[in-house]
Amino acid sequence: MEVGTDGLPARVRIYEVGARDGLQNEKATVPVEVKAEFVHRLADAGLGTIEATSFVHPKWVPQLADAEQLLPLLDDLADRVSLPVLVPNERGLDRALALGARRIAVFGSATETFASRNLNRTVDSSLAMFAPVVARAKDEGGHVRGYLSMCFGDPWEGAVPVGQVVRVAKALYELGCDELSLGDTIGVATPGHVVALLSALNEAGVPTEALGVHFHDTYGQALANTLAALQHGVTTVDASAGGLGGCPYAKSATGNLATEDLLWMLDGLGIETGVDLGQLTATSAWMAEQLGRPSPSRTVRALSHKE
Ligand code: HMG
Ligand code: MG
Repeated sequence: MEVGTDGLPARVRIYEVGARDGLQNEKATVPVEVKAEFVHRLADAGLGTIEATSFVHPKWVPQLADAEQLLPLLDDLADRVSLPVLVPNERGLDRALALGARRIAVFGSATETFASRNLNRTVDSSLAMFAPVVARAKDEGGHVRGYLSMCFGDPWEGAVPVGQVVRVAKALYELGCDELSLGDTIGVATPGHVVALLSALNEAGVPTEALGVHFHDTYGQALANTLAALQHGVTTVDASAGGLGGCPYAKSATGNLATEDLLWMLDGLGIETGVDLGQLTATSAWMAEQLGRPSPSRTVRALSHKE
């Protein structure tokens, strides 16, 4: 890893989740053409990894029920952008593979309550559901991300012990996931907790190179948490354009860390991302108009007011 003068990474990969984590939680249904334009604009702003949609049960997440219609509209991007999709089970994998998707993400939970509410399974039976998905995706030459939700706190179970998170994370990693994304689904983490979890995962044999962070910004801690993770050596940070997002199955989950807020900090630190803040802000302002409400991102609001 290239390291800047102050011990921070020289480059960070922003893993854009607005089109999936953001839109899955919108009350209004966004037309598929608008989604396709959103993803194209994100790509034009320089984002290299854009999570496009989910192949989940359409009744569970109706906002993403148009996955089959959306992916073909993104075909022209395939040679310059990674377009991962969420897949919970073999049925979802079949749907994704049929459309040529080769980058997928399974999504587990560190807590039993959320596993049951989000996947209708226990933690261990969800891992059993993911095992053939990961194996088949890898056989197809695919790349697999393993999300882990409720890594810090859970709205029903409270604070989640680090050891409990490490057990499930290690199991996901041992299924063959190429990378893990540590989800603070309800945004309760603070920097010391982040470093404690990252260190415990390293001690358990999961290297920092395989770890990304996924912060929701409920308590305004997402940037502080991100900085702590970068100082630990993490170089993949999930964020959502305009701060869209939440999770329909986790009460008190608000939007993700806004990509613009992240970019403001990374640009200020001289960390490269390849993303153009002006173009991205214009995209989020446009998306906010489509959704009929202002962007929750402070950076989007500050830069939009300047005009
Ligand atoms: P289930 O009801 O237990 O499913 O749901 P099942 O296996 O019993 O099957 C029931 C029926 O659903 C069957 O149809 C299946 O074919 C069908 P029938 O035979 O009865 O006609 N089915 C499907 N259809 C289409 N696509 C599929 C699929 N699977 C089964 N993939 C299931 C289990 C996992 C499917 C369900 O719980 C589900 O779809 N959950 C998704 C929930 C979700 O998407 N949550 C949001 C994403 S996670 C998140 O946001 C957190 C994250 O951002 C990180 C963080 O912030 O922490 C990633
Ligand atoms: Mg999320």
